[in-house]
Amino acid sequence: MEIEKAVGLLRAGEVVGMPTETVYGLAGDAFSAPALARIFAVKKRPFFDPLILHVADRAAADRCVAEWTPLAEQLAEKFWPGPLTLILPKRPEVPDLATSGLPLVGVRAPRHPAAQRLLRAFGGPLAAPSANRFGRISPTTAAAVREELGAAVPLVLDGGPCEIGVESSIVAFIDGEPVLLRAGGVPLEALEAVAGKIGREGGRLSAAAPGQLPQHYAPRTRVRIVTPEQAEELDWVARAQAGLIGWGALPEGYKAVCNLSPAKNFAEAAARLFGALRELDAAGVEEIWALPLPEEDLGRAVNDRLRRAAV
Ligand code: TXA
Ligand code: MG
Repeated sequence: MEIEKAVGLLRAGEVVGMPTETVYGLAGDAFSAPALARIFAVKKRPFFDPLILHVADRAAADRCVAEWTPLAEQLAEKFWPGPLTLILPKRPEVPDLATSGLPLVGVRAPRHPAAQRLLRAFGGPLAAPSANRFGRISPTTAAAVREELGAAVPLVLDGGPCEIGVESSIVAFIDGEPVLLRAGGVPLEALEAVAGKIGREGGRLSAAAPGQLPQHYAPRTRVRIVTPEQAEELDWVARAQAGLIGWGALPEGYKAVCNLSPAKNFAEAAARLFGALRELDAAGVEEIWALPLPEEDLGRAVNDRLRRAAV
């Protein structure tokens, strides 16, 4: 029912809130320039920031991608459907608006059952950035999408809270070598088990990955990255005004605390991250103090989002 309604809206060039396993997306017909323009307008997103095109599976990606490499095929084979976006040469039919004029397109096959149903019922690729206003916290529930974008979106499919909670990992290829443009839902260690050593982007694609703008994922409240020592030493008066986000055993006395995972489980921490930032933003604290996780597994993606929230 809802899916049919969503398909009708998408065919009419409208945008629809779509659950995925990473974060909620704001979906529109990838081959309709007016629908793409609507996505940018609703998000207040600058046109230089390219969109990820979502497809049901590897075969459907051929509508967007002109050329595959064996390594890209292997990564898709292993991680699709799932939280991995591949940057590959685009077909000429893909509107320039989707790729911000780049000859490359970002594609991914999400595994959330509602996204799969929608993509199959629609029968073509859907462009979908995260369903937040530009630069703000990504939504991981349907309610958060409504809070972010409100009446501008005629329908938000409710697929429950997102299982992973941080955006897809983005892998591009420079001179045939894989590079990680964004740490995300597939840990680097898992990508490297398939692809061998993966580099970090060395600047050559930076204009092409503006989702990597230093400031992003930002609450209204100022976020400050701190060490465990700083969090322990803050005086009690200041503590009573501040919020704290971290995991494991956390210091006491803060006005509001979001423990991402008392048991230090990376998946649990990632799944809670954006909801926790929203919660602390609504808690009326003067500053949010953030304790980074270890720089491994999904901790990389969580720390990346915290650092960008703190700029
Ligand atoms: O998990 C996700 O990837 C979520 C869900 C909805 O699928 N989507 C998402 O989209 O995070 P968005 O718009 O918030 O992030 C898109 C980012 C861009 O900012 C850019 O960094 C990268 O993906 N990107 C997309 N197309 C690209 C291209 N052609 N070349 C380089 N980077 C690209
Ligand atoms: Mg985003």
